[in-house]
Amino acid sequence: MQGDAIPTIRFPNGAEVPALGQGTWNMGERSSEAKREIESLRAGLDLGMTLIDTAEMYADGGAEKIVGEAIRGRREEVFVVSKVYPWNASRQGTIDACEGSLSRLGTDRIDLYLLHWRGDHPLSETVEAFEGLKASGKIGAWGVSNFDKSDMEELFDVPHGRNVAANQVLYNLSRRGVEYDLLPFCQERQIPVMAYSPIEQGRILHHPELIRIAKAYQATPAQVALAFLLERDGVIVIPKTSSAARATENRDAVSLDITDEDWAALDTAFPPPARKKPLEML
Ligand SMILES: NC(=O)c1ccc[n+]([C@@H]2O[C@H](COP(=O)([O-])OP(=O)(O)OC[C@H]3O[C@@H](n4cnc5c(N)ncnc54)[C@H](OP(=O)(O)O)[C@@H]3O)[C@@H](O)[C@H]2O)c1
Repeated sequence: MQGDAIPTIRFPNGAEVPALGQGTWNMGERSSEAKREIESLRAGLDLGMTLIDTAEMYADGGAEKIVGEAIRGRREEVFVVSKVYPWNASRQGTIDACEGSLSRLGTDRIDLYLLHWRGDHPLSETVEAFEGLKASGKIGAWGVSNFDKSDMEELFDVPHGRNVAANQVLYNLSRRGVEYDLLPFCQERQIPVMAYSPIEQGRILHHPELIRIAKAYQATPAQVALAFLLERDGVIVIPKTSSAARATENRDAVSLDITDEDWAALDTAFPPPARKKPLEML
C-alpha cells in the first residue's frame, strides 16, 4: 500500500497543490519538541505533502517559526497557508499581521492567507486588505476559515469577495454537516474546501466500525478517516502530526481503495446530514 501519487487540487488562480497536506496546530509550543516537529514536516515534504497549514494563532507565532525552519532552503517546493486572527483583520491590521507572519516564516510570500474565523471587522475591510496584499505579491491568494454557507453568501456580496480561493472548515467522518449545503456550494464554484481536524484530533480512531474496516485493508483507522475525505471532490486534507512515522502512515492513505460496500458501512456508522446543521468549529 504505497507509491500512488497524491491527487492534486487546483486553486482558482491556477496553483496546483496536493490534496493531502500537513497541519501544524500545537507545534512550536515546547522548544524540546522543535526538532521532532521540523523533522516530521520535512519528512512530509519528502513524501509530497507540500502544502503546510499554519496560523499566527498557533503557539502565538511559534508554529510559523517551526514551519519557517522546516521549509528553509526548500521554499519553492512548498505551498504555505497561514491565517490572520479575526481581531487583527482590519484594513491595516491585516497587513501588519501578514508582515509578522512573513517574518516568522522567513519568506516573502504566503501562498494562501486566510481569515481564521469571522470577527467584528467588516468583511469588506478584510477583503480590501487581502486584495492589496495580493497586488503587492505578499500573498498569492486569500480565503476564509470557519465560514458557513450564509457567511460565504455575504462574502460574495462584498467587492472582490468572489476572489475567495478556499474555505477551511471542520470536516471529518464524525462531522459531516458541511455535506448538506456548504460543501456543494463551494464545489459548484470551484472553491477548494480544506478539511481541518480530519481525524477529529484522534478521537474517532477508537470507533469499532472504523477499526473493523481498517483491518480489512491492513490499514489503520487514521488512514481510512483520511481516505474518506480524499474521496471528495475539491477537498484538501490537512492532518497534523509531529511524528515522521505517522506522516508516512498518513501519506499512504492515498493508496487505499475502499469498496462501495465499505463506504456504505461507513455511512451507516457515521451518517451524512439529513438536514442543515450550523457549521461546527474547534
Ligand atoms: N481553521 C481552523 O480553525 C482550524 C482548526 C483546527 C485545526 N486546523 C488546522 O488543521 C490541522 C489538523 O487538525 P488538528 O491538528 O486539529 O487535528 P487532526 O489532524 O485531526 O489530529 C491531530 C492529532 O492526531 C494525532 N495523529 C496524527 N496522525 C495520526 C495517526 N496516523 N494515528 C494516530 N494519531 C495521529 C496527532 O498526534 P501526533 O502529532 O503526536 O502524531 C495529533 O494529536 C491543524 O493542525 C491546523 O493546521 C485549523
